Amino acid sequence: MLRRLSHVQPESFEFTPRNLAWAQAQITKFPEGRQQSAIIPLLWRAQEQEGWLTRPAIEYVADLLGMAYIRALEVATFYFMFQLHPVGRIAHIQICGTTTCMICGSGDLIAVCRDKIAPTAHTLSPDGNFSWEEVECLGACSNAPMAQIGKDYYEDLTAEKLAALIDALAAGQVPVPGPQNGRYSSEPLGGPVALAAMKGTGEPLNASAARAVALRDTVKRIDGSEAPLLTPWQRRPEAATDSGDLSDEPRPSEGRPVDGTGITVQQAAGTSPGRPVGKTEPAGQPADAKGTE
Ligand code: FES
Repeated sequence: MLRRLSHVQPESFEFTPRNLAWAQAQITKFPEGRQQSAIIPLLWRAQEQEGWLTRPAIEYVADLLGMAYIRALEVATFYFMFQLHPVGRIAHIQICGTTTCMICGSGDLIAVCRDKIAPTAHTLSPDGNFSWEEVECLGACSNAPMAQIGKDYYEDLTAEKLAALIDALAAGQVPVPGPQNGRYSSEPLGGPVALAAMKGTGEPLNASAARAVALRDTVKRIDGSEAPLLTPWQRRPEAATDSGDLSDEPRPSEGRPVDGTGITVQQAAGTSPGRPVGKTEPAGQPADAKGTE
């Protein structure tokens, strides 16, 4: 599928001060000269801030990482998780249309999106509040059909339930994520029939839904104020680690090449052709014995 940038673009982009601090901290995870490896988390944070990935945002991230714009564009246009067109102010709804969800009724969910949001995917609703798209399997097949709204999954949906979710979001509410038919997680409707002794300890929500309710960032635009900036690989702040035992933390590499050549050992130039040498090489192609014997 050809993925192009939107014709509609803002004039500029910049990270909020806290997102910029977060981005600069992420860059220090990588060896000197390899800062471009931070491109995906930085593009993702730009999308979390704006809702979608604008051309100015892609170029801003490329500038931060010292990359050619075309290299950043290659990444942004390759991965489907990056939204290259404006998304709804309130929510972008991703309906899984892969086999299990399709069999269980994702077509009905898409019909709701067409009716309540816009006739075509990646199109804003008339009030600009919603957009939708069909996506491939989101890994919640046992709770089909399902949709991802913002950061969270809404599972065991019906057309009526999805319509009610959209209405609730439009009214400023954030419905509780997770199964929408009374299931706790992905056990059989009516309760588990195997491993029943392990069915949980009575919490009202499964761990994923409970976490979503606690964080309350399902459809929030991220500005960096949501969580303290922790950089345990830089030993800052000291409280960033729970135990005080730093032995298993990632090692810092800021300002330090991985080896004397400035490249990783894994990427160092090979000294042999890397090709197994057969017992009888074709005439005219003497085997390179060096490093292969
Ligand atoms: S098929 Fe829809 S989540 Fe897997």
